[in-house]
Amino acid sequence: MTVVVSAGPTRERIDPVRFLTNDSSGRMGFAIAEAAARAGHDVVLVAGPVALETPRGVRRVDVESAREMLAALRKEWRRADALYMAAAVADWRPARKLAGKWRAKDGGAQRARIDLVRNPDVIATLTRGRRDPKRTVVAFALETGDGERRALAKMARKGADWIVLNGPRALNADRTELSVLGADGLRFTLAERTKARAARDLVGLLKIDVRDLVSRT
Ligand code: CTP
Repeated sequence: MTVVVSAGPTRERIDPVRFLTNDSSGRMGFAIAEAAARAGHDVVLVAGPVALETPRGVRRVDVESAREMLAALRKEWRRADALYMAAAVADWRPARKLAGKWRAKDGGAQRARIDLVRNPDVIATLTRGRRDPKRTVVAFALETGDGERRALAKMARKGADWIVLNGPRALNADRTELSVLGADGLRFTLAERTKARAARDLVGLLKIDVRDLVSRT
């Protein structure tokens, strides 16, 4: 299969030297790309700015902002069979990017504000909010509190077949504990394990055909 993986944070520029971003290290997405390549798939990794080596056998496309990520994924998704959307896409970007450096002292003010505008929802744009029986879409959700209900709603809104739920402790860590929820009602928990091991397990989702499970039972 041709598998597209997104990973890492996005950077939303304020001026030529400053940006808004988040704590995503990209490790989960890179681990999935590596595991998918080892399982014999053709893998394209669309990566936000991260300091990680490209896994062997993986084609990497580097992007910076959410809009660049969307443009790159649109192109790759046309001929892909599966998408793992592990990137932590910034929901907002500064309404304007200043051409020159933002100089705090010019106005002498003690407060400032940055107007933000909404970034596109990358995964929902790709799926148009609908599942496609011929392709597999895996979304990720980082939730605090009652995550499951929110994650299920997200999965539906984003046209995903699966949503992988993790807590904020997984950010920038080596190990992770995941819940995997399926749009057809399957669900399971991956108890704490390395991200490499979790990645292999998540690549295994490509082998699950829920229609087979239903017809066999
Ligand atoms: N995602 C995306 N485009 C965005 C935001 C998120 O494609 N602009 C994707 C993420 O890559 C992830 C999934 O959507 O696979 C869920 O991301 P999350 O940040 O948990 O959800 P949000 O849609 O941002 O919702 P909220 O901010 O309410 O948690």
